[in-house]
Amino acid sequence: MKAKITLAKEFKVGEIDKRIYGSFIEHLGRAVYGGIYEPDHATADEDGFRTDVIDMVKELNVPIVRYPGGNFVSGYNWEDGVGAVENRPKRLDLAWGTTEPNYFGTNEFMKWCKKANTECMMAVNLGTRGAEEARNLVEYVNHKDGSAWADLRKAHGYDEPWNVKLWCLGNEMDGRWQMGAKTATEYGRTALEASKLMKWTDGSIETVLCGSSSRNSPTFGEWEATSLDIAYDSIDYVSLHQYYGNPDDDTPSFLARTLELEEFIYTVICVCDYIKAKKRSKKTINLSFDEWNVWYHSDNAPYERWSMAPPRLEDIYNFEDALLVGSMLITFLRHADRIKIACLAQLVNVIAPIFTKTGGGIFKQTIFYPFEHVSNFGRGVALNPIISCPKYDCKEFTDVPYIDSIASYDEENEEMTIFCVNKSMDDDAILDINLMDFSGYKPFEFISMDGYDKNDVNGFDNPFVKPHKNELPVMDSGNLTVNIKPFSWNVIRLRKS
Ligand code: AHR
Repeated sequence: MKAKITLAKEFKVGEIDKRIYGSFIEHLGRAVYGGIYEPDHATADEDGFRTDVIDMVKELNVPIVRYPGGNFVSGYNWEDGVGAVENRPKRLDLAWGTTEPNYFGTNEFMKWCKKANTECMMAVNLGTRGAEEARNLVEYVNHKDGSAWADLRKAHGYDEPWNVKLWCLGNEMDGRWQMGAKTATEYGRTALEASKLMKWTDGSIETVLCGSSSRNSPTFGEWEATSLDIAYDSIDYVSLHQYYGNPDDDTPSFLARTLELEEFIYTVICVCDYIKAKKRSKKTINLSFDEWNVWYHSDNAPYERWSMAPPRLEDIYNFEDALLVGSMLITFLRHADRIKIACLAQLVNVIAPIFTKTGGGIFKQTIFYPFEHVSNFGRGVALNPIISCPKYDCKEFTDVPYIDSIASYDEENEEMTIFCVNKSMDDDAILDINLMDFSGYKPFEFISMDGYDKNDVNGFDNPFVKPHKNELPVMDSGNLTVNIKPFSWNVIRLRKS
């Protein structure tokens, strides 16, 4: 197929907020125990953190990590996870049917963040608890000294406050599976009061209101409008969550899910702006896409109820998952003006790009690579190219462009990167890229993932699916011609020479 991409510096969507490359660690399965924390592991440091995991997290260049949940947070007593480890209680976690030993808690996570070059996005429990416990946690974590909770932190051995800037007001509070699930009005009131008290405790923090738990949620739309109407003045972001799967083995429809994602993002922006208009407010609410990924491979996997850190949600990702993850990232960048935060759910073992064996090795899942590329090279401003390419129809969608693409432009370093997915399983694409006002820019790296079967996966002894470098594409008077393989992920990096 032939396709054309036109790019100019004026096609600016917005500044890319680096927090769009966030991730997520929940007390769930082997994300914490056997994932980031395993004191007996050969690579564990003095704090019990697996350094092989930290090294890979650094490669992903993740600027924020949401913690400690997820569904888990809606029953969590944060006080259980601080102070001397031997005094911490073991609790039944009703969200995931396991036992939480509380060997790892807030201070351990904050220490881990420092070592992994990342920051914490903290979630508070607005399910079984409320504004009081939330504001106490802000005081414990962020207040310097001279108050009961700050002094307790100091007594626990942490003299300096951690200064957590970003706080989630609960998790998926519309979901019937959520401990303490609420109606939109109940939640709006709870979130407003919690946010108010938390900000009175520390005026420098930002808060995220829970949006719907997915676009398929029965109350989607109405939930956002009602809760935003109540809490608008106190909160800064509204959350979106979405996972996709391909249980019917329908790859064209699976890869077309980004059209639905686009619609989801657009409608949430519309609801935010409708409430803004209604209130004649000067404040704009931005989006925090704080859970997203492919999730379905591990559905129905058995586990032992009330056991400690059993394997849960351990999806092994295949090649087509990597293409969808790449396309989802492209979609987020297309809305860089409004999406300021996004968290790939999750980071290690639980629906994650990094997979470990407890007591053993580690490997990079297929989805690791597109995330790594976009997180490392997708900096500066997002440029939305004009794309003209053939389209396809499939079972669930019509007019799906085969080529999905976005560019990032780093003005300071005079670098521009084009990310591109070819969703055609059979046809390569001769991409004619018109670089408009990028005169003097030349390609210096062209990375692809292609040539794999859609079901190909990686394993501990088999890092099979991985990117490779290509010959540099040909430049001809401001036009770049690139041959894109069928069913592929591509990264073309240019700089001014
Ligand atoms: O990420 C796994 C789970 O998915 C989270 O705990 C919950 O918020 C969502 O439903």
